[in-house]
Amino acid sequence: MKKNILDYETVRLNDEHDCIEIIDQTRLPDDIKILKLSTQEDIRDAISRLAVRGAPAIGITGAFALYLASKEISYSRTHNEVPGSMEVANDEGYSDEDIIKEFFLQLSDAREYINLSRPTAVDLSWALNRTYEAAVKANDNFTGDYIGDRLDYIVNGIKEAACAIYDNNIEMCRKIGEHALTLVKDGDSLLTHCNAGKLATVKYGTATSVMYLGKEKGYNFKIYCDETRPLLQGSRLTAFELSSAGMDVTLACDNMSASLMKDGKIDAVFVGCDRVAANGDTANKIGTLLLAIAAKRYNIPFYVCAPSSTIDFASETGNDIVIEQRDIEEVTSMWFKKPMAPEDINVYNPAFDVTDADLITAIITENGIAYAPFEENLKKLAEG
Ligand code: MRU
Repeated sequence: MKKNILDYETVRLNDEHDCIEIIDQTRLPDDIKILKLSTQEDIRDAISRLAVRGAPAIGITGAFALYLASKEISYSRTHNEVPGSMEVANDEGYSDEDIIKEFFLQLSDAREYINLSRPTAVDLSWALNRTYEAAVKANDNFTGDYIGDRLDYIVNGIKEAACAIYDNNIEMCRKIGEHALTLVKDGDSLLTHCNAGKLATVKYGTATSVMYLGKEKGYNFKIYCDETRPLLQGSRLTAFELSSAGMDVTLACDNMSASLMKDGKIDAVFVGCDRVAANGDTANKIGTLLLAIAAKRYNIPFYVCAPSSTIDFASETGNDIVIEQRDIEEVTSMWFKKPMAPEDINVYNPAFDVTDADLITAIITENGIAYAPFEENLKKLAEG
């Protein structure tokens, strides 16, 4: 019997085989294939071509990637690679401090390399920095004598930090869903864009958490998914996972949402985000801005579901957020049997847009719901 997509893990660490396993999301919905990523190059490539995607999922992948890198670097430090077995290394005049310095140099390179795979979702750099800092802390706290033990201790510190990011994601998404549930009622019609679902997280998703938790309570939501051009995350992923979960889902092309709203068919919009600036401006999948404008026109609440890891207080406004530009083939020919545009046509293909804070009704985090003024209220939520 064909397994349900919800039975698969979006991202998992296979520590025994030194790899990260992901569902190859470029092949969904017709083919469920698990990819094993072992090298930094494989991991960066999988993130860049959206085989694994969605802000939290790429953060988790980045954290596991840094753990695998630390294992490899430490192995090469303790075996016959540069500068030789640890005893030889010491014999040849390398001090423990030289070895640790080299370890951190290489770890920092790995962090930078993975971080370059996609620029907009702050979860990636957040998770990489968090795991890197865990390594620094473990090194500071180590009290033994032997350099091999010290490296093991550091590597283990990174693993614990990466696994904590993975584990916390479930609770974080569930809490976002619990807060979101207070904003809707049984029978409501909810619209979502792109995929901020289980396939972008470990469980529940962010924007879809309200839908999963509503279903657990026996609510009957009617869900509309935008197909999300050009890579169709809404139809290939969200429509797939929500219908696999037994929900009532209707797919619409991106340009149909305004008419759904005008016809009174939408009670609330829930979207995810890749980065929220301190003032509440929100970067999310291209097309989110149009939805927010239309929702405002028709007085429909527009909610952004944002794990606190996605709020970037270092970006003052949306103008500080780097927007990823992607290959033109995604618009003109990729996945089509025939070209869908004239040869050599100019193409505009940003992966994200920024929704102005004044179009957003509320930002829902695991710590609670923030309303305007976001500058003040997001800080309050972050400070607990
Ligand atoms: O390009 P993608 O598929 O990674 O874009 C994903 C989105 O825009 C999501 O809405 C966002 O990352 C939040 S996922 C919980």
